[in-house]
Amino acid sequence: MELPKEIQELNDLLRPRWVSGLWNVDHAERPSDPKTRVKAHLWKWHDIYDSLVQAKEKISVASGSVERRVIRLVNPGIAESEMTSHTILLSFQLIQPGEVAPAHRHTMSAFRFILQGHGAYTNVDGQKMVMKDGDLILTPGGCWHEHAHEGDENMVWIDGLDVPFVQALNQISFDPYKGRLPVSENIDPVTFYGMTRPVGSSTPAAPPLLHYHWRDTYLSLQRLAQSSGNPFDGAALEFVNPATGGPTLPTMSCRVQLLRPNEKTKAHRHTSTSIYHAFRGSGTSVINGEKFHWQKGDTFIVPLWAWHEHANASTSEEAILFSMHDEPILKAFGLYREEGRE
Ligand SMILES: [Fe+2]
Ligand SMILES: [Fe+2]
Repeated sequence: MELPKEIQELNDLLRPRWVSGLWNVDHAERPSDPKTRVKAHLWKWHDIYDSLVQAKEKISVASGSVERRVIRLVNPGIAESEMTSHTILLSFQLIQPGEVAPAHRHTMSAFRFILQGHGAYTNVDGQKMVMKDGDLILTPGGCWHEHAHEGDENMVWIDGLDVPFVQALNQISFDPYKGRLPVSENIDPVTFYGMTRPVGSSTPAAPPLLHYHWRDTYLSLQRLAQSSGNPFDGAALEFVNPATGGPTLPTMSCRVQLLRPNEKTKAHRHTSTSIYHAFRGSGTSVINGEKFHWQKGDTFIVPLWAWHEHANASTSEEAILFSMHDEPILKAFGLYREEGRE
């Protein structure tokens, strides 16, 4: 649209002074509802796993040519960024027996959700955590971490990081560690965060709880599934930081939900973004009217403010979705809101 002559003249005067009039703001930049370029999308497990296998054939972690064998999920709406959403980068990592993904630390926080294999461990600041499928392991920003595999079959897990958010704040920093990261034998977070605590110890000084075992999670989930559950999420659990009672990480929260046979949730939407991984079973999620059919291993994203509902496709089997959310960021800045359809 052609601007009036006097506005053009004013803009020409202001431009070389590195200032600009508010009258230049496009009305499209002031929507009544929050908008995002992030698109609803589903990644099939076959594509992800085959990409990892192809990378396994061509890339060796042992030779040091790459530090991690990682496949990132690229959102088609923000393809140039190679990120999964504007706040979260979700990746899949494969490690072969005998490999060591060398230690480093960075300002970005990470979690790992283990999908298959056994015998590998993650060392976070000296805590050696043996990975089993369904386990959730945290690497808060600034912690040294290394992955090593002492087993005999390939291991695959999900890596979730707050890379795009930290990038937007211009806060990315990264340090490699020289040599192998030592394991400390004297750290036992359960001693601090279980039903007992050493006399005289203060919780904040204790080692953080970084490992959530699937055996405990699944037991709680099954018990919760005896109740009616949340109308929008079914029988859903949020992983908690026991020191604060808050979310797993300052920027990301992780959840796991069980959809009972035939269960269908009500639709809702929120200003946070959610990424789901089908850990067990199969189903359909409707995102802003579009149907996404998922099976075990598939991953899909629900953009912010998009209506969504989930349904278990089976009449006899349970379905379990692991999910990650940038909700803690929105809540920290007073930007979180949600609404549901009855
Ligand atoms: Fe890392
Ligand atoms: Fe939701």
